[in-house]
Amino acid sequence: MTKLSKSELEKQLIAYRHDFHQYPELANNEVRTTAKIKEILQDWGIKILPTNLKTGVFAEIGALPGPVVGLRADIDALPIQENSGVAFSSKVPGVMHACGHDTHIAALLGAAYLLKQQEKQLVGKVKLIFQLSEEDKEGALQVIQDGQLQNVDAILGFHNTPHQALGEIGMRSGIFNGAIDKFKVTLRGLGTHASKPEKGYDPIVALGAEINALQSIVSRNLNPFEAGVLSITHVNVGNTWNILPEEAFFEGTVRTASASAREIIKKRFLDVVNYTAKAHQVSTDIDWYEGDPSVNNDAKLVDIIKDETSKFAPIYEQEPALSSDDFACYQVATPGVYVNIGNGETINLHNSRFKANDGVIMAGSEFFEKNAIRLLKELKLNPINL
Ligand code: NI
Repeated sequence: MTKLSKSELEKQLIAYRHDFHQYPELANNEVRTTAKIKEILQDWGIKILPTNLKTGVFAEIGALPGPVVGLRADIDALPIQENSGVAFSSKVPGVMHACGHDTHIAALLGAAYLLKQQEKQLVGKVKLIFQLSEEDKEGALQVIQDGQLQNVDAILGFHNTPHQALGEIGMRSGIFNGAIDKFKVTLRGLGTHASKPEKGYDPIVALGAEINALQSIVSRNLNPFEAGVLSITHVNVGNTWNILPEEAFFEGTVRTASASAREIIKKRFLDVVNYTAKAHQVSTDIDWYEGDPSVNNDAKLVDIIKDETSKFAPIYEQEPALSSDDFACYQVATPGVYVNIGNGETINLHNSRFKANDGVIMAGSEFFEKNAIRLLKELKLNPINL
């Protein structure tokens, strides 16, 4: 492995990122991305670990026995037609790295390179987790089911964040991101002629009542100091002007910070939908999909990471948000810290004009590298307290 200076490494990582950006792949289909990551790691002499998963890469650095620190980057893209205008825009129609996971991949590659240089001094092992399928919120669970988190003592991850100065690192203890749930509701009435509503049971009026009634849950049932969002995002009913249809459909999502808010909203949702349907003489089917819990940062780990990070990067106190990341699943199994890294000014994530900043890459590499080394030392000294 040729020794690269920091600036040579950064140049190389930017080239890799631009390549990943041009060939984005959707959740569970990251075949080329997986092959390319493996090729780069193998080229640097880094040990690839076995897996039963078709995509995603797991690798290990470290020669000595001791604690294991996991570093995680997500690798998938989104079904969006890119419109950012960058020279290295997606060559895959309808698919784009609109969440900047390409910068996350490059950052973890950079950390891998830097840690490999210091392999003999590491007092334990660093496990690299290039995670598939974050956007459909299934990847982290697949990684855990594949046994990749066994023996990992602590785990770190980050997301690039727009509207924050480049390279600034946002941290907080406890709840960082929200839990995510999804619902689909079908209302079944009896179709009839629009001029004879008394001959049927109208699901449209029922649907309207339900949409209104559901808005009262967050405002009337949740403690005002708790955070929760209930959004109905898709409605489908009827197809012409003179027929009252048989069925109406709506779906949406619930985001909550605490487990208690999550429980209250679900319980009230089921009651409101069922009783409102009954009041309007229609039957109802509710599908409730429980998603990931909240990203919840371990307080002791945050203290250590803050102390270490303050030596090389500006830090800010991150406000919690109700967006989600399946990094939360890892934190159920092992203590972990998830941070934001400022991307500078750009339009929001998941927009066709989103532009990730190449500067995020080395900021991420350094965050991973320095904190992995520090955590190995802390865990070695104090394995029980963390
Ligand atoms: Ni993302």
